[in-house]
Amino acid sequence: MLHTAVCDLLGIEYPVIQAGMGPFTSAGLVSAVSNAGGLGSLGAGGRATGDFERELSMTRESTSRPFAVNFTLIGAGVSEASFALTLEAQPRLVSFALGDPGDFVRRAHQAGTLVMHMVTTVQQARQAAERGADVIIAQGSEAGGFGGTVAGLALIPQVVDAVTPIPVIASGGIADGRGLAAALALGAQGINIGTRFLASVEAPIPEDWKQAILAAESEQAIKAEFWSDIFPATGSQYSVNPRVLHSAFVDEWQRRREDARREAERLQIQVGAAIREGKFGELLPFTGQTAGLIREILPAAQIVQRIVSEAEEALRRATVFLV
Ligand SMILES: Cc1cc2nc3c(=O)[nH]c(=O)nc-3n(C[C@H](O)[C@H](O)[C@H](O)COP(=O)(O)O)c2cc1C
Repeated sequence: MLHTAVCDLLGIEYPVIQAGMGPFTSAGLVSAVSNAGGLGSLGAGGRATGDFERELSMTRESTSRPFAVNFTLIGAGVSEASFALTLEAQPRLVSFALGDPGDFVRRAHQAGTLVMHMVTTVQQARQAAERGADVIIAQGSEAGGFGGTVAGLALIPQVVDAVTPIPVIASGGIADGRGLAAALALGAQGINIGTRFLASVEAPIPEDWKQAILAAESEQAIKAEFWSDIFPATGSQYSVNPRVLHSAFVDEWQRRREDARREAERLQIQVGAAIREGKFGELLPFTGQTAGLIREILPAAQIVQRIVSEAEEALRRATVFLV
């Protein structure tokens, strides 16, 4: 049976984490993953407090297994109201991404909750270790959504070396059991997956976004560099751009980066309105390079089970190389 030390730390059966993806996660998705033996993550980013509170209490009702709550540190940052609700609900783990987690680590620990932090460089990993993170996600640039520029194959072993003995979770570019087996070979203790779970039955995104993932090849999931023209990183935020599929919005502003800088304020308002109206995916369909590996929409529990059994098979197969 596939099991790593981080499974014991987190109280889960399999080292498969469904990524926090803000409003593109739901109690249904999180509990399906946790009930299947993985770790579901409810995203707090980009959600109104009332919506978050509802999903959090539905998650509590739908699973007795451990789950995580995820916060992003860009934009308006962590909502204090949602953070307070989270600490009260006492999830196994709170995860952060996209900036220095600073004092949030101490506050989560004080409430008895473990902290996982996602990084895209070795320097960020060292800082997260100093802050006291219990688990560190090393996210390669293949990832869907916000990320850095270093690919996972180069980044993950470097982060492992930099923060040992803190457990490292590999993220970005993983959609099947071969990816999990490779992550373990790189020294990671598990995987964090976004795009594969977006193309699940339970993911609360529009059907055309799911179908676009199934139809896309990896090279169609591009880095939207114009993002930082509209939303430049400030303070302790990491400098990141999202990986997305083509859309009219993406293609226009990729071409017109100087105009994007000039019209930043108007575009910020347009993106904010799209999030509130549930139309974000029409503008910026966040998707990773694993789109090329994903050809069917599956129930989230089946995705977890398949990844684990494929990884076991891949690890067994790999022993033939030991002559
Ligand atoms: C639609 C979407 C939304 C995301 N939102 C968040 C988020 O709110 N917080 C976060 O930590 N990561 C977010 N991510 C990144 C994921 O956590 C994860 O690192 C990434 O999806 C892993 O790469 P993969 O897509 O290749 O599996 C998002 C990713 C996607 C695809």
